Amino acid sequence: RPRVLSGIQPTAGSFHLGNYLGAVRQWVALQETHDAFYMVVDLHAMTIPKDPAELRNNSRMAAAQLLAAGLDPERCTLFLQSHVPEHTQLSWIVECLTGFGEAARMTQFKDKSAKQGTDHTSVGLFTYPALMVADILVYRAHQVPVGEDQRQHLELTRTIAERFNGRYGATFPVPDAYIPQETAKIYDLQDPAVKMSKSASAPKGIIELLDEPKTTAKKIKSAVTDTDTVIRFDRDKKPGISNLLTIYSTLTGAGIQELEDKYAGKGYGALKTDLAEIVTDWVTPYRDRTREFMDDPAALDKILFDGAEKARAVASETLRTVYDKVGLVPGRR
Ligand code: TYM
Repeated sequence: RPRVLSGIQPTAGSFHLGNYLGAVRQWVALQETHDAFYMVVDLHAMTIPKDPAELRNNSRMAAAQLLAAGLDPERCTLFLQSHVPEHTQLSWIVECLTGFGEAARMTQFKDKSAKQGTDHTSVGLFTYPALMVADILVYRAHQVPVGEDQRQHLELTRTIAERFNGRYGATFPVPDAYIPQETAKIYDLQDPAVKMSKSASAPKGIIELLDEPKTTAKKIKSAVTDTDTVIRFDRDKKPGISNLLTIYSTLTGAGIQELEDKYAGKGYGALKTDLAEIVTDWVTPYRDRTREFMDDPAALDKILFDGAEKARAVASETLRTVYDKVGLVPGRR
């Protein structure tokens, strides 16, 4: 079985619909066909200051939500990044293989550091992509299911894998980004020109999966559309409606053409009302299941500990190989 690896940051509150449709949904599907490793990247969440109690709670909430979304510990390996120290160990080697300029060209770093100013930007934000490269390479993953905004980090991962292989001999598969076109980017409901994002979107623009279903319905009904009335998929001319059609189509399995036919001659209101119901029908059991997993912290921790153990078995072997190849003296075993 080919191997997949992916990660998600623990965030305050909950994941948003972009995380689910752009990434987690694919994770759930791929656990059936792939040797799947999925993690909550708690270390990546620390590039900006976090309250310790909040970080801890967010990480557990993130794991609970992934289980609620359909990850099955029998079918995949689910763990917390900090439970597998090999990620940060390999990350150092990756940092030493990455050019300063190469890292400085990462657009997520450029955007975030420009917003924060250099004095408020941690070195961790700068080296963030190196840790992500290590996350992927330490499992020798073949595919990485992510949204479009992670593509550049995946390209860096491919570059580093090739560089390592070239310098030290074939070691890593060169991993492919797995980014289904339709859901690669879910847009902000209030500003459909930009992606839905926890850090950038206004509350009304983002569907938080643990929101009250009533709030969710209201946000969909007040999504920004256009002054035309035709329900048609057209990313450039009708970004708002196209975004709603993408969400509708992905959650129900109905094709875009089918939806255009279904809503021919009907107004935006009808589409929004139906979509509000579809989304709330989806989030309601998600909320319930998340709560159930949070209500049993011992069981949740056990899943994560077991996952970390399986992950470490793979990661430690890769790290040993890498240390050997780069010329470090083997320690006592
Ligand atoms: P993060 O936590 O920001 O996002 C998690 C996943 O959700 C996707 N995503 C979206 N997809 C479509 N539309 C959107 N509006 C949208 N917003 C977010 C992201 O592309 C991502 O797949 N650096 C990563 C986490 C990470 C990782 C890794 C991923 C760390 N190590 C190794 C893969 C492999 C991040 O911050 O994702």
